[in-house]
Order: sequence, then structure tokens, then C-alpha cells
Amino acid sequence: MSTSENWIERGLTHVAHTYGRYPLVAAKGEGCWLTDIDGRKYLDFLAGVAVNNLGHCHPKIVKALQDQAAQLIHCSNFYHIPAQIELAEKICQNSFGDRVFFCNSGAEANEAAIKLARKYSADCGHSKRYEIITAKASFHGRTLTTVSATGQDKMQTGFAPLMPGFKYVPFGEIEALQEAINPSTCAIMLEPVQGEGGIHVPPTGYLEAVRKLCDQHDLLLILDEVQTGMGRTGRLFAYQHDPIEPDVMTLAKGLAGGPPIGAMVTREKFAAALGPGTHGSTFGGNPLMAAAGLAALTTIIEDGVIDNCVAMGHYLRSEMEKLKKKYPFIIDVRGRGLMLAMELSIEGGELVKTAMARGLLINCTAGKVLRFVPPLIVKQNEIDQMLEILEGIFSDI
Ligand SMILES: Cc1ncc(COP(=O)(O)O)c(C=O)c1O
Repeated sequence: MSTSENWIERGLTHVAHTYGRYPLVAAKGEGCWLTDIDGRKYLDFLAGVAVNNLGHCHPKIVKALQDQAAQLIHCSNFYHIPAQIELAEKICQNSFGDRVFFCNSGAEANEAAIKLARKYSADCGHSKRYEIITAKASFHGRTLTTVSATGQDKMQTGFAPLMPGFKYVPFGEIEALQEAINPSTCAIMLEPVQGEGGIHVPPTGYLEAVRKLCDQHDLLLILDEVQTGMGRTGRLFAYQHDPIEPDVMTLAKGLAGGPPIGAMVTREKFAAALGPGTHGSTFGGNPLMAAAGLAALTTIIEDGVIDNCVAMGHYLRSEMEKLKKKYPFIIDVRGRGLMLAMELSIEGGELVKTAMARGLLINCTAGKVLRFVPPLIVKQNEIDQMLEILEGIFSDI
């Protein structure tokens, strides 16, 4: 039995079966490359599902973690934490936000946003305004409330009764949103580009029209930037492609470039609704994660990471368009920055397995959509290597 097989057998015995795992035992990573326990190298265009925006083990994140770990790993949110304060300052300096609540994941960031919207509404004297409109094919997390917010039946099946107070409309259709607003509505919650649902970019002007609707009806606009944030789409935050600002934005995934962290960013006016004792998290924004977050955000802003994302995103997309012209089973190429997808007319699951066998990590979402979310530091020659493997797979079909 190889080292990999041994680990896989042990993993299947005692680790919960909540993931359909591939037969790869991860051992180490560097830049855009992941190495398995048997020493095999893979070009990683999944990047921990859009988490490793700076690649694996970026030296600045490693150093920040090492330095902080030697000083203080955890205390409590009963005390002031310098790294957390600096990270909050930097997020606010580079966004619409005035205040940041830290947690540990995207789902928790969205939970905080949902609680904030309800509490703000209640504080304004509208205790019956609690409903949040979200989009079909959205994804907001796996807790019971964020699964209820997610507009996909397959995530909800078996978990009834769901959390009440969510209504779903087709993404990108402003009339549907307008019609769904009713006296119970307190907020609209959307991903600026839908990720897990299949990389859907809304039509031009959609988010601006949503903002206007929110203003007209006095609703909070919550943007879930868990996947789109931290430079992924070619701007630090995806809302910055449009002439709008949300009232609440949630972040996680790439915020610390690997270590688990989540954040809910909001304006002062709304932040006041979650005063002392109303919400919290033991680990949220702890010194270690916050130090990594500060290193990741600083690196993304100062080291030309977003420019590289834009340039490499254009390059990868144009090469994907060329493949689309050649292979009729590629029916669409879409996305923004380095959050790109190819929709196929055939199932993508087997292709992902073949890609892995040939040394490439990608994934398939929504059944037939191949998703490409490489580190934002990816180089052109790495994209070329990826395309060579991909084209080899396509030409065998
Ligand atoms: C847009 C979006 N929101 C929320 C989440 C949930 O994040 P987490 O898995 O960190 O809870 C995800 C995860 O894929 C996501 O893509």
C-alpha cells in the first residue's frame, strides 16, 4: 500500500464523510503548485476554492504567522487586539466600510450580516420587517440560516424546517427583485458574481439598479464577497466594478490567504445595531488569523497582485475563448478577473478526475461548469501549462 493509499484508508475510517474527496493526500504547497504525500506535483487552479489568492505558503503570510505565533496566538475579544485593529483599519481604508466584525468563515460572516439586517430593522421599530431577498443559484454557506438564505434546493433538502424569512428571485433580473419586495422585506443579499452556482456575472447595470431599489424601499444591500473579494475579480472588492457601495459586505476565503477568517464590513449607521452582547465569536479575528489577514491584504494592495489578476485574467479568458471556438461542447466562457468558468454541454465531473490524473487541479460546479480560480499571482507560463493539459483532455473527448 502506498503512503497515499494508507492515509486515504485512515481518512475514510474516522473523518466525517461530508465531502466527496478525490484520492489526493495533500502534503505541501508553494505558489501555484500543490505536492501530494507521494511527491507528485499538481498545478493548482482551484487554490483551496479561491482561498489561496497569494498562492500556497506565500512568504509574507508564513512570516506573519510565525512572528505572531511566537508573540501571542489567542487571547479573547474581551481585550483589544492590535493585529485585529490594524486589519479592520486597512479594510475600512480600502472600502466603503466604517466597522468590521471578525469571525472564522464565510457562513459566519453571512450569519452576522443577516442578524445585523434584522436587528437594525427591529431597532428602527420595524419588528415585522425581517425578510431578506436572495437569488436563485446563490450560495451563502452551510449553517442552517445561511443554507436557508441559499437559493438552491439541493443544499436545503432534509434540513427542514428552514429558517423563515428568505425569498429567492432569479439572479440578474431587476423586475423579479422589484416584484418580490413587500412590507416584510428588510434587505437584499447577493453575490456580485455567483460562485458555487456556476460563475454567473449579472448584466451591466444590475447592481446599480439593485442599489436604487434598496434606497427607494429603505432596504439594506448586503453583498456576499466571500468568494469575489480580495482581488479575485480584478478589483479589491467586486462591487468596485460598479458605481455603487453596499451597506454590508461579507468576506472570508482569501482574506488571510489560507488561515480561516471571516469578516462582516458595514457602515457606522448599521454597525450600531450590533452593540456589546448582541453578537460574538470566541476565535473571530484572533491575533494569529488577524496577523495573516493583515499580511495578505497588504500584499494584495502593495505588490501588484490585482494588476497581475487583471492581466492574467484577460489572457486566460482569451485562450479559453479560443478553445470554445475549437470544441463545440464548450458552450460558454464567462467570469471576471481570475474567477472564470467554461460551461460545457457534457458533465464535468469526470474531466476534473482526468485533469487530476494529469497533474491539474480544477473543479466542476453546477454539474457542467468547469471553474478556474487560480492564485492571483499565477504566471503566464503556468496558465500555458494548464491550457496544455486541458486541451489534451478536450482533444481526447
Ligand atoms: C459566496 C460564498 N458565500 C459563503 C460561502 C461560505 O463560506 P465558508 O465555507 O467559509 O463558510 C462561500 C463558500 O464557498 C461562498 O462562495
